[in-house]
Amino acid sequence: MKLFAGNSNQVLAAQICKYLEIDLGKADVRRFADEEIFLELLENVRGEDCFVLQSTSYPANDHLMELLIMIDALRRASARRITAVIPYFGYARQDRKPGPRAPISAKLVANMITEAGADRVLTLDLHAAQIQGFFDIPTDNLFAVPVLGRDVKEHYDLENVMVVSPDVGGVVRARALAKRTGSMLAIVDKRRDRPGESEVMNVIGDVEGKDCILIDDIIDSGGTLCNAAEALLAKGATSVTAYITHGVLSGGAVARITSSKLKELVITNSIQPTAAVEAALNIRVVSIAELMGEAVKRTALEKSVSSLFD
Ligand code: R5P
Repeated sequence: MKLFAGNSNQVLAAQICKYLEIDLGKADVRRFADEEIFLELLENVRGEDCFVLQSTSYPANDHLMELLIMIDALRRASARRITAVIPYFGYARQDRKPGPRAPISAKLVANMITEAGADRVLTLDLHAAQIQGFFDIPTDNLFAVPVLGRDVKEHYDLENVMVVSPDVGGVVRARALAKRTGSMLAIVDKRRDRPGESEVMNVIGDVEGKDCILIDDIIDSGGTLCNAAEALLAKGATSVTAYITHGVLSGGAVARITSSKLKELVITNSIQPTAAVEAALNIRVVSIAELMGEAVKRTALEKSVSSLFD
């Protein structure tokens, strides 16, 4: 097997290679003067089981294009099988038509990855599980909950923990963490009136005196999280920490988190942390390298991936 990586997450790629005890596949991914992507595979892949690691994180369109071009290069170089390993699958928030004349971008991107020549997809905490069905090729959607749950157990007195979903849509994910940590579950009933704005309405569950653990798939502007934290503290929570799989953290999100009442934000490295994220005192990054690496290994060996979550 061989693992190649685009420019989105070279650090994670190196960690996964270390776990797999292989060298990262050699490829040259550069830009022409007009920003078109130039890509060249620098080693033979004929007949190989190839994995391409790339998150479609900022700059999302460039990283998506790198992924597509790398898959195309592998296909034309006669790789036996190509698995797109996408720790953060972007465009996932546009997974249905919320109104007339809207695109379903998640489906379009899934089509593009398939059309480029991927045989399989391995991803993590898709925004909506049904996006798996947008691919007509085998797609494994991993969950960060085992990694996050382990961290909660290491840092909190579980007797006093209350897992909280920041919105009704995230209850399944929150329930999974609550089950793993043996904690109770509360829900923030959020209503978003305009895109980019979020408004906390109500807290379902008694959070008074509790160490609240918010869990979500994405933190983008940070609005959802900061509003949820305010609502929980107003209801008497002792502390609020957030565990989020994908730290998109665009715009002024890092500053918002730093100046928020959140005790800590814990994210994974599905998206390579920026220097600002690494410098933020109340943001901590946990690695998914072992989880992704093991899933890659099991895929290569044709072993069960789902049993990783038993
Ligand atoms: C929404 O359904 C997602 O799960 C996240 O809650 C949302 O994308 C977070 O966005 P923001 O940080 O901009 O509020």
